[in-house]
Amino acid sequence: MPAEKTLHDAFHETLKDVYYAEKQSVRALKKAAKAAKSPALKQLFETHGEESATHVERLVQVFESIGKPARAKTCEAMQGLTAEMDEDLEDFGKTEAADDVLIGCAQAMEHYEIARYGLLKSWAKKLGLSEAESLLGQTLEEEKKADALLTQVASTGAAHITSKAA
Ligand SMILES: [Fe+2]
Ligand SMILES: [Fe+2]
Repeated sequence: MPAEKTLHDAFHETLKDVYYAEKQSVRALKKAAKAAKSPALKQLFETHGEESATHVERLVQVFESIGKPARAKTCEAMQGLTAEMDEDLEDFGKTEAADDVLIGCAQAMEHYEIARYGLLKSWAKKLGLSEAESLLGQTLEEEKKADALLTQVASTGAAHITSKAA
Protein backbone atom coordinates (compact mmCIF):
# COMPACT_ATOMS: atom_id res chain seq x y z
CA MET A 1 0.00 0.00 0.00
CA PRO A 2 1.38 3.41 -0.89
CA ALA A 3 1.54 5.96 1.88
CA GLU A 4 -1.72 7.80 2.31
CA LYS A 5 -2.01 10.99 0.34
CA THR A 6 -3.12 14.23 1.88
CA LEU A 7 -4.82 17.43 0.78
CA HIS A 8 -1.36 18.98 0.77
CA ASP A 9 -0.34 16.43 -1.87
CA ALA A 10 -3.45 17.27 -3.91
CA PHE A 11 -2.57 20.95 -3.61
CA HIS A 12 0.96 20.30 -4.85
CA GLU A 13 -0.23 18.12 -7.77
CA THR A 14 -2.83 20.68 -8.84
CA LEU A 15 -0.24 23.43 -8.60
CA LYS A 16 1.94 21.55 -11.12
CA ASP A 17 -1.07 21.19 -13.41
CA VAL A 18 -1.90 24.90 -13.24
CA TYR A 19 1.76 25.82 -13.78
CA TYR A 20 1.64 23.91 -17.05
CA ALA A 21 -1.75 25.37 -17.98
CA GLU A 22 -0.63 28.94 -17.28
CA LYS A 23 2.45 28.59 -19.46
CA GLN A 24 0.27 27.22 -22.25
CA SER A 25 -2.09 30.14 -21.85
CA VAL A 26 0.75 32.64 -22.35
CA ARG A 27 1.45 30.99 -25.68
CA ALA A 28 -2.22 30.79 -26.65
CA LEU A 29 -2.75 34.47 -25.84
CA LYS A 30 0.15 35.45 -28.08
CA LYS A 31 -1.43 33.49 -30.88
CA ALA A 32 -4.83 35.02 -30.16
CA ALA A 33 -3.39 38.55 -30.14
CA LYS A 34 -1.87 37.91 -33.55
CA ALA A 35 -5.12 36.50 -34.93
CA ALA A 36 -7.57 39.04 -33.48
CA LYS A 37 -8.94 41.50 -36.03
CA SER A 38 -10.29 44.22 -33.76
CA PRO A 39 -7.56 46.39 -32.23
CA ALA A 40 -9.37 46.40 -28.87
CA LEU A 41 -9.47 42.63 -28.73
CA LYS A 42 -5.84 42.43 -29.81
CA GLN A 43 -4.95 44.82 -26.99
CA LEU A 44 -6.92 42.79 -24.48
CA PHE A 45 -5.11 39.61 -25.44
CA GLU A 46 -1.74 41.36 -25.29
CA THR A 47 -2.47 42.83 -21.86
CA HIS A 48 -3.69 39.55 -20.44
CA GLY A 49 -0.72 37.78 -22.02
CA GLU A 50 1.59 40.05 -20.02
CA GLU A 51 -0.49 39.46 -16.89
CA SER A 52 -0.26 35.73 -17.49
CA ALA A 53 3.54 35.91 -17.59
CA THR A 54 3.25 37.41 -14.11
CA HIS A 55 0.92 34.55 -13.13
CA VAL A 56 3.64 32.09 -14.10
CA GLU A 57 6.10 33.96 -11.86
CA ARG A 58 3.58 34.00 -9.02
CA LEU A 59 3.19 30.25 -9.30
CA VAL A 60 6.96 29.89 -8.93
CA GLN A 61 6.61 31.89 -5.70
CA VAL A 62 3.82 29.57 -4.54
CA PHE A 63 6.09 26.56 -5.14
CA GLU A 64 8.82 28.33 -3.15
CA SER A 65 6.41 29.07 -0.33
CA ILE A 66 5.76 25.34 0.15
CA GLY A 67 9.44 24.46 -0.27
CA LYS A 68 9.04 22.65 -3.59
CA PRO A 69 10.76 23.14 -6.95
CA ALA A 70 8.57 24.63 -9.70
CA ARG A 71 7.61 21.72 -11.91
CA ALA A 72 4.92 21.40 -14.52
CA LYS A 73 2.71 18.40 -15.12
CA THR A 74 0.85 18.06 -18.42
CA CYS A 75 -2.61 19.54 -18.09
CA GLU A 76 -4.79 17.73 -20.59
CA ALA A 77 -7.69 20.10 -20.07
CA MET A 78 -5.67 23.15 -21.16
CA GLN A 79 -4.07 21.14 -23.95
CA GLY A 80 -7.54 20.33 -25.22
CA LEU A 81 -8.66 23.94 -25.00
CA THR A 82 -5.64 25.25 -26.89
CA ALA A 83 -6.03 22.51 -29.52
CA GLU A 84 -9.63 23.63 -29.99
CA MET A 85 -8.45 27.18 -30.46
CA ASP A 86 -6.03 26.06 -33.18
CA GLU A 87 -8.81 24.17 -34.88
CA ASP A 88 -11.20 27.11 -34.66
CA LEU A 89 -8.56 29.45 -36.06
CA GLU A 90 -8.15 27.15 -39.02
CA ASP A 91 -11.89 26.99 -39.62
CA PHE A 92 -12.84 30.58 -38.82
CA GLY A 93 -9.62 32.61 -38.71
CA LYS A 94 -10.27 34.21 -42.07
CA THR A 95 -14.00 34.71 -41.65
CA GLU A 96 -16.05 37.57 -40.20
CA ALA A 97 -16.73 35.34 -37.17
CA ALA A 98 -13.03 35.12 -36.30
CA ASP A 99 -13.08 37.48 -33.31
CA ASP A 100 -16.26 35.99 -31.82
CA VAL A 101 -14.84 32.51 -32.10
CA LEU A 102 -11.56 33.65 -30.53
CA ILE A 103 -13.39 35.24 -27.62
CA GLY A 104 -15.20 31.97 -27.04
CA CYS A 105 -11.94 30.03 -26.96
CA ALA A 106 -10.29 32.55 -24.67
CA GLN A 107 -13.21 32.48 -22.24
CA ALA A 108 -13.08 28.70 -22.04
CA MET A 109 -9.44 29.05 -20.97
CA GLU A 110 -10.21 31.82 -18.46
CA HIS A 111 -13.02 29.78 -16.93
CA TYR A 112 -10.71 26.84 -16.51
CA GLU A 113 -8.13 29.07 -14.83
CA ILE A 114 -10.77 30.62 -12.59
CA ALA A 115 -11.93 27.16 -11.52
CA ARG A 116 -8.40 26.01 -10.74
CA TYR A 117 -7.16 29.17 -8.99
CA GLY A 118 -10.38 29.30 -6.98
CA LEU A 119 -9.83 25.73 -5.88
CA LEU A 120 -6.15 26.20 -5.06
CA LYS A 121 -6.90 29.35 -3.12
CA SER A 122 -9.51 27.64 -0.97
CA TRP A 123 -7.22 24.67 -0.38
CA ALA A 124 -4.38 27.02 0.57
CA LYS A 125 -6.69 28.63 3.14
CA LYS A 126 -7.72 25.26 4.50
CA LEU A 127 -4.08 24.20 4.76
CA GLY A 128 -3.02 27.43 6.46
CA LEU A 129 -0.74 28.43 3.57
CA SER A 130 -1.36 32.15 3.84
CA GLU A 131 1.33 33.32 1.43
CA ALA A 132 0.10 30.91 -1.25
CA GLU A 133 -3.48 31.94 -0.57
CA SER A 134 -2.66 35.59 -1.12
CA LEU A 135 -0.65 34.97 -4.32
CA LEU A 136 -3.34 32.73 -5.77
CA GLY A 137 -6.02 35.23 -4.84
CA GLN A 138 -4.26 38.02 -6.75
CA THR A 139 -4.12 35.91 -9.89
CA LEU A 140 -7.72 34.76 -9.46
CA GLU A 141 -8.90 38.38 -9.49
CA GLU A 142 -6.97 39.09 -12.69
CA GLU A 143 -8.47 36.02 -14.39
CA LYS A 144 -11.95 37.19 -13.42
CA LYS A 145 -11.24 40.65 -14.75
CA ALA A 146 -9.95 39.24 -18.05
CA ASP A 147 -13.10 37.14 -18.33
CA ALA A 148 -15.32 40.15 -17.67
CA LEU A 149 -13.48 42.21 -20.29
CA LEU A 150 -13.94 39.43 -22.82
CA THR A 151 -17.66 39.39 -22.07
CA GLN A 152 -17.72 43.14 -22.58
CA VAL A 153 -15.92 42.90 -25.91
CA ALA A 154 -18.23 40.10 -27.02
CA SER A 155 -21.37 42.06 -26.25
CA THR A 156 -20.31 45.51 -27.43
CA GLY A 157 -18.56 44.37 -30.60
CA ALA A 158 -15.15 45.14 -29.17
CA ALA A 159 -15.17 48.78 -30.19
CA HIS A 160 -15.84 50.31 -26.80
CA ILE A 161 -12.91 48.94 -24.90
CA THR A 162 -10.21 51.55 -25.00
CA SER A 163 -6.50 50.92 -25.10
CA LYS A 164 -6.29 50.60 -21.32
CA ALA A 165 -7.81 47.14 -21.15
CA ALA A 166 -6.50 46.68 -17.62
FE1 LIG B 1 -3.43 33.36 -15.74
FE1 LIG C 1 -5.98 33.98 -17.85
